[in-house]
Amino acid sequence: MNKKTVRDVDVKGKRVLVRVDFNVPLKDGVVADDRRIRAALPTIQYLLDHGAAVVLMSHLGRPKGKPRPELRMDPVADRLSELLGRPVTKLDDCVGVRVENAVNAMQPGDVILLENTRFKPGETKNDPLLAEGLARLGDIFVNDAFGAAHRAHASTVGVAHHLPAVAGLLMEKELAYLGRALADPERPFLAILGGAKISDKIGVIQNLMSRVDSLLVGGGMANTFFKAQGLNVGDSLVEEDALDTARDLLESAGDKLVLPVDCVVADRFDAEAQARVVPVDQVPDGWRILDIGPATVAHFSNRLAAAKTVVWNGPMGVFEFSRFAEGTFAIARALANLKDATTIIGGGDSAAAVEQSGLADKMSHISTGGGASLEFLEGKELPGVAALMDA
Ligand code: 3PG
Repeated sequence: MNKKTVRDVDVKGKRVLVRVDFNVPLKDGVVADDRRIRAALPTIQYLLDHGAAVVLMSHLGRPKGKPRPELRMDPVADRLSELLGRPVTKLDDCVGVRVENAVNAMQPGDVILLENTRFKPGETKNDPLLAEGLARLGDIFVNDAFGAAHRAHASTVGVAHHLPAVAGLLMEKELAYLGRALADPERPFLAILGGAKISDKIGVIQNLMSRVDSLLVGGGMANTFFKAQGLNVGDSLVEEDALDTARDLLESAGDKLVLPVDCVVADRFDAEAQARVVPVDQVPDGWRILDIGPATVAHFSNRLAAAKTVVWNGPMGVFEFSRFAEGTFAIARALANLKDATTIIGGGDSAAAVEQSGLADKMSHISTGGGASLEFLEGKELPGVAALMDA
C-alpha cells in the first residue's frame, strides 16, 4: 500500500480522530453482529498503547441527515466498551462547542465515540463546514473505515483535507489482501462470484476476467448466463436486461468462465419448498434454481484444489434457507481445506455465509466491506483511501 499508516505518525499525547465503520446490525437496541467493531480494535488499541486520546466516529444506517433515535450510537459504545475493557464516552452530537469541550478535556487513554455522522445532512454531501467541524476534534486523522472508503463523505474524505491523514491497521490489512490479489496474485488465481444479479457485478467480472485463471460463477446470477446460452430456466430469477451483457461475457471469457453443471431446484421460493437436483439443462417448467448441485460442488472444488489465491464474493444459493445452503457451505469447506492458499472473502453476504458455516477462522481474510470491496475489485480507486497521505 502506498499510503501512510498510524505507524508513520507520532500519536503520543495527541487527540486522534478515527473514522471507523461501526455500521453494524442492531436488534432490540443491542448490537446483533459485532464483527466490524472487533475488526477496529487493533487500531484503537494501538493508539491507546501509544499514548493517544481516541475520538471515534462512524455512520450507522441511512438516517438521511436527521437524528433518528433508533440509530443512535449508544449500543455501539456499550459493546465497544465491553470489548476494550475500558469506558467509552458516547457524546450526543458529532460536532459543535460541547463536543469540542469534551474532546479538549480528554487525557491520553480516553476514548470518545461521537454521535452518528449521518444525522448531519452535510455528511453524505461532503459539506466543507461539517468537515472543518470534525477536523477541530483531532490533531491527526486516521481512516480505518474500509467499509465506507467508497463513500466521498465529510467524515471519510472532507476531514482528511484538514489534518495529517493516515490509514488504520484494518484499512491497511484490507488493502494489502485485496490489493495483492489484484496486482500480484500467486497463481493459479481463482475468483468465485455469486449473488443474485449480474448487473451488480459486471464491473467486477470485467476487471477480474483479465487477472484470474478461472472465474467460477454460481448463485442467481448464473441463471442469466444459462438463459443467454438458450437453456430453459423455468421460473428462476433472470435479469432480462442483462442477457446481452451475459452473452458478450460468455463469448469474451471463453473457458475462463466456469458455470454450474447441476442445480437444486425448488417448486416455490420458500424455506419449506420441495427441492430436487437436476442438470442445468433440465430445469422443469414452474421450478426455480435456488442452489448449485453436488456435481457442481465437486467440479468447483476440483478447480479450487490447485488454487494459490482465491477471492470469493457472493453466495452460491439462497443460503438463508437451510435446504438451499449446502452449495454455499460446501464452497466454504473447499476453501477451508486449501493448504498454502490465500483465501479472501468479500464482505456482505459471503462474509455472513462463511461466518454461519463456522469456518471463518480458516480463511486468510474476510473483508469488512461490502460495497467497498466490490468497488475495489472493480479496479476503482476508493475516495477514502485516495484522500490519505502518500507513503
Ligand atoms: C456498508 O455497510 O457497506 C458500509 O457501512 C457503507 O454503508 P452505506 O452503503 O450506507 O454507505
